[in-house]
Amino acid sequence: MMEAFRIDPNALQGLRDIALQEAAKGGGAQRIERLLGGETLRDEELVAVFLDREVATERLLELSEELRATDSLQIETFCPLYISNECDAECLMCGMRRFNEAMARETADDTVVKRQLDILSNRGIRGVALLTGEYRHGSMRREMLARTASATRGALERGFTHVLINVGSIEDTEYPDLLEGLPLRGDGAISPHVTMCTFQESYDPTVYRKFMGSAPQNPRADFERRVQNFDRAARAGMLSANPGVLVGLNPDLAYEMLALLSHVHHLSGLGLKVYVSLPRLRKASGAEHTAGVGDDDFCRLVAVLSAGLPDAKIVISTRERPEIQRRLLPVIGVLTAGSPGVAPYSQDGARFDVEASQFEVADLRPFEEILGECIAAGARIDGYQPAIYPASAP
Ligand code: SAH
Ligand code: TRP
Ligand code: SF4
Repeated sequence: MMEAFRIDPNALQGLRDIALQEAAKGGGAQRIERLLGGETLRDEELVAVFLDREVATERLLELSEELRATDSLQIETFCPLYISNECDAECLMCGMRRFNEAMARETADDTVVKRQLDILSNRGIRGVALLTGEYRHGSMRREMLARTASATRGALERGFTHVLINVGSIEDTEYPDLLEGLPLRGDGAISPHVTMCTFQESYDPTVYRKFMGSAPQNPRADFERRVQNFDRAARAGMLSANPGVLVGLNPDLAYEMLALLSHVHHLSGLGLKVYVSLPRLRKASGAEHTAGVGDDDFCRLVAVLSAGLPDAKIVISTRERPEIQRRLLPVIGVLTAGSPGVAPYSQDGARFDVEASQFEVADLRPFEEILGECIAAGARIDGYQPAIYPASAP
């Protein structure tokens, strides 16, 4: 059995320095040719391409578009569904953090969650990400775990084909409760497509501590427990993992790329299907808005990771403005639209109240409009089956 994943910051900084030196020497054009020729670059070479300013961002986007396995524009979608905006953690960038007095706390019960799944299903959605805060040991933690488990079963019963679980780190002893009642394959693995999502936010322990805190009673403070969550998920029978970096926390993007790449290699080595999320920092209630990463650097990051990880699906959300979504559509695997409010969906829209949401999205259009635009641009979208007739038709 493979050892659990570990981060070695010194080794990664060494690789980052190599990438910086390589980028300063140029050679980006040759590396692009090698990628187009089917070669796999070492991670530090890939990051050198990202860093090499001689290589235009448009060239990087063209490159990853060309490298896409099929010529048809195939993406996937899912909608976020927050079960609660309560949280015991203290992440400084997040509106849900425990000490944010401005947040109007809400938690949806099982009936409300299932009604939300019905609404999403009626609106053609077949993929859902279930989200909560992260809770200390105790009754709230057990209750939210049970609610997420019930929502997962509820979604699968309703014909959802992909359920993503974004509820923080889960212990070995808790996984059976989270996955309770899910159909198993002969080898004991979970047979429906259920993905564990835990974004490390930053793979630099110092940056991590600065934002996620270090108090022992804070359920998010343990860097290692977080980074090894997929190792536990895999042991519990899950076959799909979604790591990520919260882009804007650590200005050293080259370091984060190298760490993320090594995490993805590890997860692929475990036999997991991998989704890679690159959420970009947004304004949140009661949280300071840091300067973040500009559009151009962000597009370079997405393009290079997409080119370097042909088997992973890059996830982009409506944290991005429509303009950026359109620019990235040809190189991403998933576009996810929806609201970070608690149980926010109605028959024809969603609530977007910042004071009850984790952060502000950049695109408030109904997902039908966003996905409709992708379809009009030639995309086929897994996880979305819009009704042929309007909802008002008999
Ligand atoms: N409580 C769970 C669920 C996280 S919500 C957990 O922390 O794992 C999903 C993601 O939203 C977080 O992992 C983080 O990457 C992102 N996020 C948090 N604050 C944000 C902000 N201000 N802007 C954009 N994304 C944010
Ligand atoms: N933060 C989660 C994610 O990025 C949930 C999410 C998905 C989300 N799509 C979204 C939140 C769109 C707000 C808007 O996977
Ligand atoms: Fe809680 Fe997650 Fe927000 Fe951290 S990012 S405060 S764990 S909801």
